[in-house]
Amino acid sequence: MTSHNSVHIKLAKHTYDVVIADGLLTQAAPLIVPFLPRRQTVVITDETVAQLHLPLLQKTLSDAGIASQVLILPAGEQTKNLANLERLLHFLADARIERTDAILALGGGVIGDMVGFAAAILRRGCQFIQIPTTLLAQVDSSVGGKTAINLPQGKNLVGAFHQPRLVLADTQMLTTLPRRELLAGYAEVAKYGLINDPAFFDWCEGNAPALIAGDKPAQIYAIEKSVRAKADIVAQDETETLGIRALLNLGHTFGHALEAETGYTDALLHGEGVAIGMVMAFQYSAAKSYCSPADAQRVQSHFSGLGMKTTRAEVTNASGSRLVEHMLQDKKRQSGTLPFLLARGIGKTYLDTSVDLTDIAAFLDGHSPQSSNIPE
Ligand SMILES: NC(=O)c1ccc[n+]([C@@H]2O[C@H](COP(=O)([O-])OP(=O)(O)OC[C@H]3O[C@@H](n4cnc5c(N)ncnc54)[C@H](O)[C@@H]3O)[C@@H](O)[C@H]2O)c1
Ligand SMILES: [Zn+2]
Repeated sequence: MTSHNSVHIKLAKHTYDVVIADGLLTQAAPLIVPFLPRRQTVVITDETVAQLHLPLLQKTLSDAGIASQVLILPAGEQTKNLANLERLLHFLADARIERTDAILALGGGVIGDMVGFAAAILRRGCQFIQIPTTLLAQVDSSVGGKTAINLPQGKNLVGAFHQPRLVLADTQMLTTLPRRELLAGYAEVAKYGLINDPAFFDWCEGNAPALIAGDKPAQIYAIEKSVRAKADIVAQDETETLGIRALLNLGHTFGHALEAETGYTDALLHGEGVAIGMVMAFQYSAAKSYCSPADAQRVQSHFSGLGMKTTRAEVTNASGSRLVEHMLQDKKRQSGTLPFLLARGIGKTYLDTSVDLTDIAAFLDGHSPQSSNIPE
């Protein structure tokens, strides 16, 4: 590692750095040590990441004279459950973790969300450090302080806002990530351009193929841009009370409906659903004449050009009304309207507070929605 990029996250009561570099983990000891007053820690990871990257982290820690205990959980979304949370809490208690000790989360969003939540509730709040190993976790889930586990009744139903003390994003981790996972994480990168940064979306159009092919400078630039964009939005609305943080959910209402329809299985990864959802948000906006059809086409071409799915038909033949039912369930509503993120153009996402769901169902079934006036 010759140099690294750092994003300083400044929230009302918490500040922390997101450090981004290639090969960061081998030289991370000086960054981690300040958060380990007793020079001991625990590392939580999953089986896949443990095989690929745990030895490197353990070497970094032991070379710096830091003792560590390790808990390895199964890989995959179903790990984020109450049973594993219980196992994790017992492990942390047995390891006699104190409030001032930082717990290390080495893995994707599943490990990060779960360890973050355990850290939030153990001893009413311990420190934790995120070492995200997927692109999705590096650009999205490791930053912002949302932590949670799933219940059978729904995803992320039990959680807390709890910020990490440090985030270490090493692009070497991405060299072992399957292309499909990389692309799914990339959807969240392009999202930041589509939300409010048209110049960054231009950059994405030019550089995404290189980024996906493993170009380190492109990856580092994209991660830094994404983290800054997320931090800016989170800083304005840390606990999602003002509607600003909702912007980060562009494409997610459509995407979650597709994820629910496919049972949150490997049939559709979260980021894959988000990519299709963003295409849908732009297509719906174009159909309503809020944005130009050319902008919607641009969004679709971008993702399809990378080999990503961009249509509902590639995922499911469920009816529009069935997908709308998932949206209602997701938002605990019976019928009527829902707030939706729509677009007036690339980088001009806005929250439409009441979108008619009959209209959305018709749109999903391929009928053109009722046209309406361009909103203010
Ligand atoms: N907290 C937030 O703000 C937030 C935001 C977005 C998503 N999330 C959550 O994040 C989770 C999804 O995160 P994810 O996509 O990282 O999933 P994940 O953690 O399940 O990782 C995806 C897969 O990649 C494997 N993997 C991880 N790192 C690897 C590496 N370097 N090389 C090879 N394989 C590797 C994992 O073992 C897993 O099989 C969901 O649970 C979602 O709810 C949280
Ligand atoms: Zn997402």
